[in-house]
Amino acid sequence: AVGCGGGDEKKADGDKKITMGFSQIGAESEWRTANTESVKEAAKAAGIDLQFSDAQQKQENQIKAIRSFIAQGVDVIAFVPIVETGWDTVLKEAKDAKIPVIIVDRDLKVEDDSLYVAKIGTNMITEGEKGFEWLAKYANEKQLKPRDGGQQLNIVVLEGTVGSTAALGRTKGFNDAMAASPDKAKFNILASQTGEFTRQKGQEVMESFLKSYGSKIDILVAQNDDMALGAVQAIEAAGLKPGKDITILSFDGVKGIFQAMIEGKTNCTVECNPLQGELLMETAKKVLAGEKVDKIVYVEEGVFPAEVAEATLPSRKY
Ligand code: AHR
Repeated sequence: AVGCGGGDEKKADGDKKITMGFSQIGAESEWRTANTESVKEAAKAAGIDLQFSDAQQKQENQIKAIRSFIAQGVDVIAFVPIVETGWDTVLKEAKDAKIPVIIVDRDLKVEDDSLYVAKIGTNMITEGEKGFEWLAKYANEKQLKPRDGGQQLNIVVLEGTVGSTAALGRTKGFNDAMAASPDKAKFNILASQTGEFTRQKGQEVMESFLKSYGSKIDILVAQNDDMALGAVQAIEAAGLKPGKDITILSFDGVKGIFQAMIEGKTNCTVECNPLQGELLMETAKKVLAGEKVDKIVYVEEGVFPAEVAEATLPSRKY
């Protein structure tokens, strides 16, 4: 734990309602919608006045929003960094204005860690590792064979937004786990391209993978569920059975992918928990009250293979 808010950061006055400026990156996925709802609902429940700004997938819009929160003199700023780099200047401006900053969902890299007071989110590297572990086990249990009769199971990857923690972390976790695995020789990454975390782009890129590699593709790793759902359409349009001809692993754990798993169209999702609003509001209150908070807090998440989808769907909250 580190001391935050105990220094020269701004503190909310006793009875005054706290105002939080929150910059969300957009609405690219089912996951993002759940994340936004979680933040809005938690702010309401906590009696915090939320100034919400949607950046439409542009870092420059986030920087503008943060500057406008500073100009308004909000009590605390929270934001989801669309990419990891490029935040030093604006966060220095927030620090100079004595407004504490809390990072949500994705990570960032700044020269001086005192530019933010806390980070709340998920461990994307661990998610990538869990994804490979599931895949290696599944390939062994099902005795998966390359469709083209070759020696290795070929993987295509739909990556998320270039430069985002969700893409960088899942790529690193997956690739490192594969490199360290006794099963590594069984797998080959054939192609990897961004699908920008959207269903539409996931479908388009999968179409182009199918055109280029056809029966060489055995496995799809989609770095979010929405891209996997888009890819399912492309695979069906190519006359193949998603989840059978091509094994599909994705990330997030949204209801839409549980439905697809129940229908046998995808095989596993590694959870990324978007319900971070409550923790964000609690953290903001503590920071403004001058209490100590943990610098990094990761929310809990699981791995859900298709076998558990039907039993699990009724209890899914997003
Ligand atoms: O940062 C979290 C990622 O962003 C989720 O995996 C994805 O669906 C979202 O758009």
